[in-house]
Amino acid sequence: MSENLISKAAEILKLNDLGHYTVPTHGLYPFQWNWDSCLTALAQVYFDEARAWVEIETLFAHQWDDGMVPHIIFHKMDDGYFPGPDVWSTGRDVPTSGITQPPVAGFAIRQIFSRSKDRDAASERARALLPKVLKWHEWFYRCRDPRDSGLAAIIHPWETGRDNSVDWDAPFERVPTDGVLPFVRRDTQHANPAHRPTQAQYERYIWLVQKFRSLNWNNELLHDASPFQMVDPGFNAILLRSIQETAELAEELGEHDIAAASKAQLEKGLAALETLWNDDIGQYTCYDRVMGELSSIPSVGGILAAFAPIKSERAAQIAGRISAMKDYSTYAVPSHDPKDAEYDGERYWRGPVWLIVNYMIANGLARAGQSDVANVIENDSLTLIEKSGFAEYYDPITGAPCGGGQFTWTAAMVIEFIKQSKAVA
Ligand code: DGY
Repeated sequence: MSENLISKAAEILKLNDLGHYTVPTHGLYPFQWNWDSCLTALAQVYFDEARAWVEIETLFAHQWDDGMVPHIIFHKMDDGYFPGPDVWSTGRDVPTSGITQPPVAGFAIRQIFSRSKDRDAASERARALLPKVLKWHEWFYRCRDPRDSGLAAIIHPWETGRDNSVDWDAPFERVPTDGVLPFVRRDTQHANPAHRPTQAQYERYIWLVQKFRSLNWNNELLHDASPFQMVDPGFNAILLRSIQETAELAEELGEHDIAAASKAQLEKGLAALETLWNDDIGQYTCYDRVMGELSSIPSVGGILAAFAPIKSERAAQIAGRISAMKDYSTYAVPSHDPKDAEYDGERYWRGPVWLIVNYMIANGLARAGQSDVANVIENDSLTLIEKSGFAEYYDPITGAPCGGGQFTWTAAMVIEFIKQSKAVA
């Protein structure tokens, strides 16, 4: 059974492989996306080590001088996607978007390094990437935490990947739509509009892009100029886990300065993450930096925090929260609590289950000794694939496939789940 799933997943990886980068899926997402690539490389390494390194190296070849690694690299034109390079207008030779995405590269590089059989090549390639990763991590604390709180903010929902999460509804009230140039969405031509963000949300996404473009994408200005500054526990957890893996890898390779800088970031970031703990609902929640308020919204952002090396007591509480939700949803882990009024089981990040999120939560919980819940998450993830194929996301109650099909990172996570449980067994 698992060999069959692995070979089906490997076919999807191949189908979406354009040689030096992989598209998330043809049609809906025809370029290189930042965290998609990193999570894809985790699976590529099992078949072709050199190819996995190339996926990450291609991404970092487009790092900005200030350290940011952009969320989309527009390697070649495709007008089937909106907003394309003309809307971003970041002025780069190979066009990129102007915002970033969850920094999972540090984690991915460490995993690829550890699994590589060609030790010399792995050391050389990891050593070349380490300073670039550190530069990106430093960028977060310099440009997205200008008041030095220890937590990085996102200034656009696309940066978390959780585009239309309920977490952004209230802050989006502050984002105007006046002056938004007319546009035609392409996503709703590739996927069911009922699974995608609304038009009102898209207008605000584009207002923010136009605002940042008017400031010439100067990252010294964007954070403070944005009416949307959200501190997302899941995003910070991914950053902290990557920082931890960067520190350990740097130590292993004798890069002591990188290790020391990363350890200092980790210590400060973990203490700051703790300020996002919300005892009322037993998980972390987002902090609205403009309003100075901790939210009480039960989204998966605060559960994904389990990916970071949080205290074991917190990991146990998060495991408890997932088990409680499992009583009223068929598949773990819904991206929004099905009991909340804003839950929508098919609409992108307002309820559906995502395999990449499941993988990161399960990985963190297993490390923290919460293997029972980690196993439930893994079993549910693989059951969804058998029932509904390699979709972008799934309804947590019915298991129906939603969004795009033949999805690269879903396939990659299937390979990763199966290979990693074999490694443990
Ligand atoms: C989209 O276009 O749907 C993306 O999530 C933006 O990265």
